[in-house]
Amino acid sequence: MPDFPADFRWGVSTSAYQIEGATAADGRGPSIWDTFAREPGRIVDASTGDEACDHYHRYAEDTALLAGLGVSAYRFSIAWPRVQPTGAGPANAAGLDFYDRLVDGLLAAGVDPVATLFHWDLPQALEDAGGWLNRDTAARFAEYADLTAARLGDRVKLWITLNEPFVHMSLGHGMGVHAPGRVLLFDAFPVAHHQLLGHGLAVAALRARTTSPVAIANNYSPVRLAGDTDADRAAAAAYDALHNRLFTDPLLGLGYPDAPGFDPAVVRDGDLDVVAAPIDVLGVNYYNPTGIRAPEEGSPLPFEIVPLDGYPRTAFDWPVAPDGLRELLLHLRDRYGDALPPIQVTESGCAYDDVPDADGRVHDPERIAYLDGHVRAVHEAIGAGVPVTGYFVWSLLDNWEWAEGFTKRFGLVHVDYPTQRRTPKSSYTWFRDLVRR
Ligand code: BGC
Ligand code: BGC
Repeated sequence: MPDFPADFRWGVSTSAYQIEGATAADGRGPSIWDTFAREPGRIVDASTGDEACDHYHRYAEDTALLAGLGVSAYRFSIAWPRVQPTGAGPANAAGLDFYDRLVDGLLAAGVDPVATLFHWDLPQALEDAGGWLNRDTAARFAEYADLTAARLGDRVKLWITLNEPFVHMSLGHGMGVHAPGRVLLFDAFPVAHHQLLGHGLAVAALRARTTSPVAIANNYSPVRLAGDTDADRAAAAAYDALHNRLFTDPLLGLGYPDAPGFDPAVVRDGDLDVVAAPIDVLGVNYYNPTGIRAPEEGSPLPFEIVPLDGYPRTAFDWPVAPDGLRELLLHLRDRYGDALPPIQVTESGCAYDDVPDADGRVHDPERIAYLDGHVRAVHEAIGAGVPVTGYFVWSLLDNWEWAEGFTKRFGLVHVDYPTQRRTPKSSYTWFRDLVRR
């Protein structure tokens, strides 16, 4: 492995609903994922996040795993319904106490706390009032950011407003496979704009409380053209605008691209200035490229997503394409030039069906190969002049993978859910050795 700058940030990521459990503890209110997971047929194994990895009670053990890994940063998310059980009103001190203990434990272990404010677990009461379709949710989000930063702003080293607003819009509100389960197709655009507006308002709220840097974490997927007609190229451009530009162009001051569903009537005077509030870091989450060709006649979509041949695949059946990460980092640099802030890869990882062997050890050579390839891709991008300053593995622990329930394991650490026993996999040792170097 080639050398990285000495101050390069190595980390791992998780999110609240996927690991915490304890969904009724200390005054936490219900979130849209508590509701969604209870609806028949939504989650493949009919599980919920009620217990997940029981991290709420085992955070000290998990902090020790982080210390053993030697990472300089840990990206976790804060559950809005712990801080504001109904999404409005004063802070629930008992909910914030948990993150206070976590943050102090991380600092004592020499690990920088990196906090995401919204990783999809909207308070159910806000959903009942329209959720992100309702413009008021943006204002509520800024209020929650203010309450949280008032308590933790002196110790969190990097704030991330939203996680993957594209995925929350498309899977949660366009296709209905994630909470809140709406199937609006391109009528989901207000969810894009109101999340971005909430982001911009939250940036201002955070700036008033802390001098720590502020970021957003977007999901990106380079488009692979599966066809060579003009219609295929138009389809690829439409998909690229939707997945890769809809959230980034306005964040970086370019306004909205001509993406499917974009509705100027949703955007009020002055909104674009709020959305384009300067950020210090752009978080990049990358898993795979997307194959696109022109749609069939009569399709409701202006593109068709097609499987990509010729790649190894993860247990999620996602193609393993580290070159896609290098390509997207170079694209971001070429597309945005001087407007591009430093990048940190805030998620990168893979699911495999990891099973302990007879000695209780978990060998996951595919994950090591996956991470090795993606870390090298980052190194190449840095060599080509892209300002990348960090890399976070998704995820520290096997956890509750949304609609896939407990069936997809992304962790460097294996979790046996019935006993909650944690077993570091061979990828944990590999990543530890990489970080040490
Ligand atoms: C995307 C991933 C994303 C996932 C959400 C996939 O289709 O390629 O990047 O994280 O959906 O579950
Ligand atoms: C999300 C994670 C998720 C991962 C794997 C990302 O889209 O931010 O919460 O577990 O992809 O699907």
